[in-house]
Amino acid sequence: MSENPSNPEFTYNEQLKDKILQLKKLRNAVIIAHNYQRDEVQELADITGDSLALSQAAVRTDAKVIVFCGVTFMAETAAILNPDKTVLLPVIEAGCPMADMITAEKVRALKAQYPDAAVVCYVNSSARVKAESDICCTSSNAMEIVKSLKDYKRVIFIPDRNLGQYVQSQVPDKEIILWKGFCPTHIRVQEEDILEVRKSCPDAEFIAHPECEPDVLALADHICSTGGMFKYIKGSRSKRFIIGTESGMLYRLKKENPGKEFFLATSHLICPSMKLTTLGWLAHSLENMVYKVEVPEDVKTKAKQSLDRMLEVSGEKPLSAAAGY
Ligand code: 13P
Ligand code: SF4
Repeated sequence: MSENPSNPEFTYNEQLKDKILQLKKLRNAVIIAHNYQRDEVQELADITGDSLALSQAAVRTDAKVIVFCGVTFMAETAAILNPDKTVLLPVIEAGCPMADMITAEKVRALKAQYPDAAVVCYVNSSARVKAESDICCTSSNAMEIVKSLKDYKRVIFIPDRNLGQYVQSQVPDKEIILWKGFCPTHIRVQEEDILEVRKSCPDAEFIAHPECEPDVLALADHICSTGGMFKYIKGSRSKRFIIGTESGMLYRLKKENPGKEFFLATSHLICPSMKLTTLGWLAHSLENMVYKVEVPEDVKTKAKQSLDRMLEVSGEKPLSAAAGY
């Protein structure tokens, strides 16, 4: 879009931004946005990051209202960790299809089938699924979490089969029982896409998210979470990178690494749920205080235990608003 003030679209967006900033002050709110959000939403956000970092940041804020620009499981995690704050998800339909691929009932059935196994659940899951699990993990600490389960030889890993399979390849002494979940966005990357981009830039490093398929991960120079990608790229001497995760990552990668070039592994790397949040919906959310994310008390208590166990293992204090972060 042209930044010419006489362009009506420009004027509309600027007015929306002003409105959002005024409402944010009025509501004593903080806007947090996942790395996959639209550029203009990330630009306006107070904090951007990966799903876990955002929930941790939410706990540390003094704001009374958290507007979570992301998908349902992320806003739910923020609500579990921030019982005294109001958590808003601007678009009610912004769910994660992978998180919806398993239910609490299915976890109970798996536990009955493998009673000697521990249940590790990726944060990309509902609060009810977290509540049925022994411990949570993220894409950055999954290996560490599985290794920490010293008393268990078998681990049920839910819901992402690709992250689970990657963990299995790195932790061969455990038997990982996989679930059949997957990310419809990350599985769009094909082996041929990487080979094609590499033809025009053979010196580029390929950085992949572990939600990609195993044949794609086999081609990666580095495999990590979205938060890990920022750190890795900043420290790398390479000048060109093929990015194997959602397109929203390019906004900050380009901004924070002006001398480096980025190529999306495929133009299909767009998560439709993440792109639902627009400036218009953000303004609507703050104006009408919608959509409040509430987790039933019994589910909240158990899900928080799974999240706190993960934080203990990864060397961070259990999160709670009362802890004074
Ligand atoms: P991160 O936790 O690495 O940001 O990933 C979230 C996600 O939804 C990946 O598809
Ligand atoms: Fe869910 Fe995949 Fe979108 Fe992440 S990118 S929110 S896992 S659908």
